[in-house]
Amino acid sequence: MTHQIEFVVAPGGKLTGQARVPGDKSISHRSVMLGALAEGITRVTGFLEAEDALATLAAFKQMGVVVEGPDQGQLTIHGVGMHGLQAPEAPLYLGNSGTSMRLLSGLLAGQSFDSVLTGDQSLSRRPMRRVTEPLQAMGAKIETTPQGTAPLKIYGGQQLHGIDYVMPVASAQVKSSLLLAGLYAEGETWVEEPAPTRDHTERMLMGFGYQVKRQGNRVGVRGGGKLIATDLDVPADISSAAFFLVGASIAPDSELILQHVGVNPTRTGVIDILKLMGADIELLNSRQMGGEPVADLRVRSAPLKGIQIPERLVPLAIDEFPVLFIAAACAEGETTLSGAEELRVKESDRIQVMADGLVTLGIDARPKPDGIVIRGGQIGSGCVHSHGDHRIAMAFAIAGLRARGRIEIEDCANVNTSFPGFASLARQLGLNVTEVRHD
Ligand code: S3P
Repeated sequence: MTHQIEFVVAPGGKLTGQARVPGDKSISHRSVMLGALAEGITRVTGFLEAEDALATLAAFKQMGVVVEGPDQGQLTIHGVGMHGLQAPEAPLYLGNSGTSMRLLSGLLAGQSFDSVLTGDQSLSRRPMRRVTEPLQAMGAKIETTPQGTAPLKIYGGQQLHGIDYVMPVASAQVKSSLLLAGLYAEGETWVEEPAPTRDHTERMLMGFGYQVKRQGNRVGVRGGGKLIATDLDVPADISSAAFFLVGASIAPDSELILQHVGVNPTRTGVIDILKLMGADIELLNSRQMGGEPVADLRVRSAPLKGIQIPERLVPLAIDEFPVLFIAAACAEGETTLSGAEELRVKESDRIQVMADGLVTLGIDARPKPDGIVIRGGQIGSGCVHSHGDHRIAMAFAIAGLRARGRIEIEDCANVNTSFPGFASLARQLGLNVTEVRHD
């Protein structure tokens, strides 16, 4: 029985202090996938113990991989090698997690056994043809519903062959899915991206000793190699840090240090966009940890101004737009986002859901097919709905820092998919948020 959780945010406050937000979701998923397929034992620290990454972990346990943990972010994965996974006895349920489903579909297309991937209501509505079609071109046998959605039925025992694929959308999930299938394919698999997207799969493959080739905006692997176990340190998730980067920017007299945040250049669009708006964010102690750049981020309040968000930054900030829209609502003047139609097929339709909530709170927010126009103003009060989308819930909680009255946010249980403990950490840093449980 799941509980309904509501956030109630009293207006005002400032954010101060230091915090390390939970581990990076994208890197956590990949650590389990590659650790499971490696030869030897992979030790992971900083693993995100949240529902999405735990869904990936459960799937590999169902396929016979022995894993100790997670225990305070530590995992010990006993790799089974490229061909050591066992047929799962039941469908693999992946909850809310698009990353699990899209990456696993590529990885499982190359196995000798059949598998079925299922998800919750939101995941079962999300487009899967973007991975099943190119995988089919590689020789995979996968069935979707007539709408191109989950459940996905993947038939094992197919010999895959490499393809040269030009992605129509800039998607790291599609790229990663094809590269993982490419590990099992004859010959080389190449993926060309229309714009740079997060490259954690490529970096981690190299960390596990697999050769990854890059040519401009193309990345390729040759099938038939192997992965050698390694130790991994998962940095704090910049997508979770983003809520506090915006919160401390918009709340007067704030100053925060966010520790050990992953600052891979394919993820830092949120910092670039906030800086263009006038934010005061500094990277301290920049360092490399296991192939990923990491830094402490210092953010202080600053007056923000509306901007036209450069389209090249869209894929580099794709998960941070809900909270960036809150920044726009607090900025002077108008902020315009274009070229971001992908936001409509995330955990919710993030353009419509954010526009509806902002309008409820008295902000002039006009959705467009591929983005939104937001005029900064006074955030009022009211009750908004997250539509079960973790990032919408957290974004509206942050809006409370500049609201005139109380904000209630319905349907917040899914915050646990990426950021368990968000409300208590936010409270500790100065946000007046309480969680109300309805059993
Ligand atoms: C992710 C890629 C992004 C992002 C998602 C995680 C990943 O999706 O929105 O939260 O881990 O590869 P797309 O690549 O489909 O844009």
